Amino acid sequence: MKFTDRINRVEESLTLAMAKKSRELKAEGKDIISLSLGEPDFDTPEHIKEAAINAIRQGKTKYPPVAGIPELRKAISDKFKRDYNLDYGVNEVMVSTGAKHSIMNVMVSLVQHGDEVIIPLPYWVSYSEMVKYAGGKCVFVPAKFEEGFAIDIEALKASITPRTKIIIFSSPSNPAGSVLSQNQLKQIADIVKQNPQIIVISDEIYEHINFDGEHISISQFQEIRDQLVIVNGVAKGFAMTGWRIGYIAAPAAIVAACDKLQGQFTSGANSIAQWAAIEAINGDMKPTEEMVATFKKRRDLMVELLGEIPGLEIDVPKGAFYLFPRVSSFYGKMLGGKTITNSMEFCEYILDTALVSIVPGIAFGMDDHVRISYANSEAELREAVSRIKKVLT
Ligand SMILES: Cc1ncc(COP(=O)(O)O)c(C=O)c1O
Repeated sequence: MKFTDRINRVEESLTLAMAKKSRELKAEGKDIISLSLGEPDFDTPEHIKEAAINAIRQGKTKYPPVAGIPELRKAISDKFKRDYNLDYGVNEVMVSTGAKHSIMNVMVSLVQHGDEVIIPLPYWVSYSEMVKYAGGKCVFVPAKFEEGFAIDIEALKASITPRTKIIIFSSPSNPAGSVLSQNQLKQIADIVKQNPQIIVISDEIYEHINFDGEHISISQFQEIRDQLVIVNGVAKGFAMTGWRIGYIAAPAAIVAACDKLQGQFTSGANSIAQWAAIEAINGDMKPTEEMVATFKKRRDLMVELLGEIPGLEIDVPKGAFYLFPRVSSFYGKMLGGKTITNSMEFCEYILDTALVSIVPGIAFGMDDHVRISYANSEAELREAVSRIKKVLT
């Protein structure tokens, strides 16, 4: 079978490779604890489920408009006003089948052969593969681990060329749980303003899972409004990963391009899930607040327990539900009869001996690290860390 160059450019997700290996071990009867999940372990709140059930009962089951049902686009537009005092008209927001789809629409609409996309490290796995699929070139910018994964702003400046089309990042970040400071966002906005050919994609899907105060968004710098795409969705903040609703706020021309693309290839997102998303955005935030409080407790627990393992270096995350410790002090050491040389081997060792699945940092562009998700019960987290500790000390 001869496949296209564009599909051959895309690499299979390492996250999925690890998940497959842990499934195989589970099938063999091994008691695997998964700390590799990228989704809340909570159930979708009842009031949101009710909205979906009502939508089904009311027959809201026909093809929805491509860019989203007007009621949801209005709810999103109102949310930007309510939460951030931003004015986005209904024609400047668009709904897709998950934030992943939203980002892909934008990438495919804006990036072509030879274009460069700047991706600060560590980055969410799919950004690089979307860029490659679209024919663009990824330009990675280093992070300063000691400064809470702050972007190296001088390196960012130096990486800009006339071919730079996009800068994309997530804050709060998957995989690091780090949050870009007000000052960093301002510096990025200034750089973008000086380079009018650049579009920023600000992935704010972890908006609500923020432990140290209000979410801070680069959108506050209105001088770059015409160069900004805000990505968000209901998956993480409302435990709705399976419902598949994401959205963007962006200049109307970008929305129109994404609308054209989506209209030909996938059509509007699931109508029932869109009605549920309205309830998520407009409804009671208490379940989200409770979930975030639980994540914060688990974060503290994990920082404490993992902190007892010599050689694991931890930056205390400020959001999302991941830790991204540096583990390179173990590289070059013999563990389980094998010398560990990279994050993949480290994770395989942990999976084989501690029966805990975590994700190699190389999947996010930083091979000295591993991603540990704490979207799991306290009992499982305690057991997992105690097993990891046993095989590392
Ligand atoms: C940073 C980031 N952006 C986007 C997504 C995709 O979100 P959705 O499930 O809405 O497609 C994820 C999911 O893991 C994510 O971590």
